[in-house]
Amino acid sequence: MAWKDRSPFQASAGAAPPRLAGREQIIEANDQALDDLASGHLGHPMLITGVRGLGKTAILGELSMRAKETGWHSIEIEASRAAYLDQKILDGLNETIDAIKPVAAALRRFQSQIKATATFTVDAPGVSFSLQAEERQTARAGVDFTRVLAAVAELARSKHTGVALLIDELHEAPLEHLESLVTAAHGLSKSAPSPPFHVIVAGLPSLPKRIVSRRTYAERLFRVHQLRSLTVSQVDEALNGPARAHGREFTPEAIEAIDAETRGYPFFVQEWGDRLWRDTDLAKFTVSEVDHVRSRVYEELDNSFFLLRTSSLTDAEQRFVRAMAPLGSDASIGDIARVLGRPTRGVSPVRQNLLDKGIIYAVAHGRLAFTIPGYGEHLQRMESSQSHGLRL
Ligand SMILES: Nc1ncnc2c1ncn2[C@@H]1O[C@H](COP(=O)(O)OP(=O)(O)OP(=O)(O)O)[C@@H](O)[C@H]1O
Ligand SMILES: [Mg+2]
Repeated sequence: MAWKDRSPFQASAGAAPPRLAGREQIIEANDQALDDLASGHLGHPMLITGVRGLGKTAILGELSMRAKETGWHSIEIEASRAAYLDQKILDGLNETIDAIKPVAAALRRFQSQIKATATFTVDAPGVSFSLQAEERQTARAGVDFTRVLAAVAELARSKHTGVALLIDELHEAPLEHLESLVTAAHGLSKSAPSPPFHVIVAGLPSLPKRIVSRRTYAERLFRVHQLRSLTVSQVDEALNGPARAHGREFTPEAIEAIDAETRGYPFFVQEWGDRLWRDTDLAKFTVSEVDHVRSRVYEELDNSFFLLRTSSLTDAEQRFVRAMAPLGSDASIGDIARVLGRPTRGVSPVRQNLLDKGIIYAVAHGRLAFTIPGYGEHLQRMESSQSHGLRL
């Protein structure tokens, strides 16, 4: 028999969790930045990083909602390898101008500011404007981009509001696309008074290095928030907060057991919460229920979350990650090459592909780690089930 209420938990990329645990510091920093910018002071752009399933999209969603609650306009974008980042931003800006509904005088001033740039044109007859294609990614476009963002911010200010730009998956953007964004964020931060334009970006742990590789000052420009996995009391909050609202509860021992299984990774915490909710009809979740669903949770993760990643890999890439799996939380390229029985140079192209695909990232001293928590253990589980002749 199932529990009377539907499960509030959901392990799903980008889904808003029923309780966003342990992210108070970022929320405070964001609120502070909005406050500062609203009064013309410098509000630092924010850069949020973390491995897969750690909650980057979830916190961006929360910050966007908070911006809207304070009356700001919010532009949410997901970067990708194929699309031009500046075009996506411009589309968002054009929609925002519509939403601001500026008075005629403010709009005229705005249009003349755009016309004064070398690289943007106002598209008659509306307010929308575009970047001249041949100027894309030029240094001039970067500088003009600052003016455009500042001009949109001024429009917003004329209505006593501001604009928040949130970009997810920014590690996906080609390096040359990052340039105008970083130049513009820098330009805005130097303007006095600061225009009410807040920039928040998120991506895999490789993102800060990518940004700094284009513009060294980016290191000082962005406030970097490295997401951490949840502590045991945050796991408790994430699970018991929603459960108690439905008359159910996880015992402290069950929370500890789930914390140990998930190591506090939000995606896995949601998966455990959801599985326990659906497979148990008792009001209290104890260690015995945790034990009861364990194999099903791993089966589910192996067949969805992890399999999805592996299926995007070529045979050579799969051999590389399998060689990496038993080497611990991070591995040197030399050790991986040795397991593969190849010279280091011979495996470098595959390593680069896996970096580009965002499956691995470089930690300190060139060592490599998976961007997907628990992926190494998953690969080893798969290996041992095959070597034990288990049938699927
Ligand atoms: N702080 C949190 N507390 C509880 N649950 C969370 C928290 N953050 C995220 N989650 C949940 O964890 C799951 C993964 O979150 P999300 O998709 O935001 O991660 P991500 O870092 O964006 O992953 P990816 O790199 O794959 O895009 C979602 O189901 C989300 O609801
Ligand atoms: Mg995400």
